[in-house]
Amino acid sequence: MKVFGYKNFVLVLVAFTAFIVPACKDDDNNQTQEPDNIEFVIPPGFPTPVYQFTNNAVTNERFELGRKLFYDPILSRDNSISCGSCHLQAGAFAHIDHKVSHGIDDLEGIRNAPGLFNLAWHDNFMWDGGINHIEVQPIGPIENPVEMDETLSNVILKLRASTQYKTLFKAAYGSDSITSQMMLRSMAQFMAVMVSADSKYDKYIRGEAGGTFDAQELNGLNLFRQNCASCHTEPLFTDLSFRNNGLDSIFTLDQGRATITLDPNDEGKFKVPSLRNIEVTFPYMHNGKIKTLDKVLDHYTSGVLPSTTLDPLLVGGIALTTQEKADIVKFLRTLTDNTFLTNPRYSEIH
Ligand code: HEC
Ligand code: HEC
Repeated sequence: MKVFGYKNFVLVLVAFTAFIVPACKDDDNNQTQEPDNIEFVIPPGFPTPVYQFTNNAVTNERFELGRKLFYDPILSRDNSISCGSCHLQAGAFAHIDHKVSHGIDDLEGIRNAPGLFNLAWHDNFMWDGGINHIEVQPIGPIENPVEMDETLSNVILKLRASTQYKTLFKAAYGSDSITSQMMLRSMAQFMAVMVSADSKYDKYIRGEAGGTFDAQELNGLNLFRQNCASCHTEPLFTDLSFRNNGLDSIFTLDQGRATITLDPNDEGKFKVPSLRNIEVTFPYMHNGKIKTLDKVLDHYTSGVLPSTTLDPLLVGGIALTTQEKADIVKFLRTLTDNTFLTNPRYSEIH
């Protein structure tokens, strides 16, 4: 049984139990040979998730179906692009090294693909919050003409024609039919189970081995709490609000949240991104315009552009010395969760 970051702890516990209760040896043998059960575990200190898996209880079969769909180009018009083409595990499921994403026929969108983790806590999706439920989210990229350019109904027809999917849907939902609701629920399950909470920072907070901060990281954490945490709030490192952090003064290419609300007061506001795994999700910002973390810090100290919707916290920029910026960047690197980035459970092949 592997439970995210607690793998070692659980293994030790199982070994210990086997050792002290020799009378139950047969039962224990059965227990240790159980398949790797998929579980959704709320990490200590995390709030109550938004997604409750209602009518979509976590099972290995549903999760596996969702994983297979996530990596299957069958979801695109010409069977060339999967969700995993733009969302790469090594980049915490962001599109590493791509300023904006490239979809079908190599067409370019206008936004940078964000990382995918801890989505069960999100009450809205996309940089502008244009989608408000994880179970309908995949329809966005599937039907987007510069992403997968397919229709949901045609995907369902393709899945129904596949004997392999017939078996997988039956195993997951116990029915001979294949519906879009089943498909969307299994994909929601795969994404919602992807929890990242085993970085050096998490170990520091939990007082675990491997969680010792040096003086620079500690100073970086303190500076972060003073200057950044009002928007990038622990433990998710986002408060999930929409804000303008001063990347532009005019918003002709992308109006952000205002695209959805049509409210001029929302122009240039984007969903505050989580900073977990930020070291590997470059380039940064909704338009991928900033390449490195050092340059992100330069933006906050000297690059913030004025506009009527600029967040009041950022008017005039944030005053930080070169050393303080370096300390914050060093702290941000403690948010990299290698357990998550390399967990075979989430990878295409395992
Ligand atoms: C062509 C590249 C591309 C493909 C293919 C793609 N995505 Fe994305 N994804 C993006 C981009 C770009 C965004 C940000 C879009 C926006 O804000 O308008 C995004 C956003 C998301 C988000 C929102 C995350 C958040 O924090 O709000 C989720 C969830 C997601 N994608 C899942 C998927 C799934 C599931 C699929 C497959 C059905 C998929 N993506 C296919 C590029 C892609
Ligand atoms: C007023 C709220 C606010 C404050 C304060 C703030 N940020 Fe941000 N941050 C945002 C928003 C909003 C975005 C996304 C902007 C966009 O792409 O349009 C962002 C984006 C980022 C990104 C890019 C993330 C990604 O996935 O592309 C990094 C890194 C970052 N901020 C770090 C910091 C640091 C470090 C501080 C403190 C020095 C800080 N932020 C202070 C709101 C804020």
